[in-house]
Amino acid sequence: MGTEVRVEGLTKAFGKQMIWRDVSLTLPAGEISVMLGPSGTGKSVFLKTIIGLIKPDEGHVFIEGTDIATCSERELYDVRKLFGVLFQDGAMFGSMTLYDNVAFPLREHTRKNETEIREIVMEKMEMVGLAGAETKLPGEISGGMRKRAGLARALVLEPEILLIDEPDSGLDPVRTAYINQLFIDLNAQIEATFLIVTHDINTARTVPDNIGLLYHRHLAMFGPREMLLSSSEPVVSQFLNAQRQGPIGMSEEKDEDELAGESQYAMPALPPIPLQLAPSSGLLRRTQSPPGEWCRRNGVTPPPGSFASESAAAGLAVGAGGAA
Ligand SMILES: Nc1ncnc2c1ncn2[C@@H]1O[C@H](COP(=O)(O)OP(=O)(O)O)[C@@H](O)[C@H]1O
Ligand SMILES: [Mg+2]
Repeated sequence: MGTEVRVEGLTKAFGKQMIWRDVSLTLPAGEISVMLGPSGTGKSVFLKTIIGLIKPDEGHVFIEGTDIATCSERELYDVRKLFGVLFQDGAMFGSMTLYDNVAFPLREHTRKNETEIREIVMEKMEMVGLAGAETKLPGEISGGMRKRAGLARALVLEPEILLIDEPDSGLDPVRTAYINQLFIDLNAQIEATFLIVTHDINTARTVPDNIGLLYHRHLAMFGPREMLLSSSEPVVSQFLNAQRQGPIGMSEEKDEDELAGESQYAMPALPPIPLQLAPSSGLLRRTQSPPGEWCRRNGVTPPPGSFASESAAAGLAVGAGGAA
């Protein structure tokens, strides 16, 4: 059913370079969360801190009662078994076939025999759409296939928490759309807690149950997708809507002159909230809420035109009727 991850007051600096301070959030069990942020804001560092590869300077990461930030190596070893991780570069062994790459964690961490291993590897390869590619080497396949293989490897130990770093880096928009759909389908199947780190706005707008935004050395906001997509908080709306206008400048925050120059213009209206991707089987995921649910519950009026195309959610042709 997935495991909750509770982050409290997390702070990390490398020497004098503060990465982020006082980050607190909860990744709800079984839900998909996306952590967004400009390049270099410490998204990968955040992900590595959650699995205890990087020790924070302050704060806690609680997983089933264990604090990753302060626990012993022995406890860390046990808690790590709950995780599957897909690193940004895929981290595949170049001289091993995809089969051996995917089998690696099973051979390393379990006492399963090769017959049992084969069954699991083939099942996971099938789940990620790689059936038939077992004998290929990582160098022989496309970037999108390498990510899928990395994902299959992250799945073999039946993770309760799946951490995915920049799945869309280096992928074209069509491949990104396919892999986003795969995340939704996998989440419906294995019901693990997902954290996807990305700077892809389209992924953030359509995939997750929750969105977080790291910006300027802190967590600007974290909450349900509809909350952030209807927020007029300047940093959040600028980033999620990919606008130049707002406090985020070309390389860092804008200075006061730049902001004053803009102050005569109103912020552009928020675009409609798109429907969240649904499993391709047409079923709802256990943690998926109906479109507009968060807005209704919280008395928030979503931007005009939000959740327009119900047919797209059911996997029908977009534009079949009333699509905004
Ligand atoms: N092990 C490390 N030692 C020192 N600095 C690091 C280390 N890992 C990351 N950094 C620095 O932390 C900052 C954030 O990096 P990163 O988390 O990779 O950003 P993002 O994933 O958001 O693009 C960068 O300035 C990077 O150089
Ligand atoms: Mg990164």
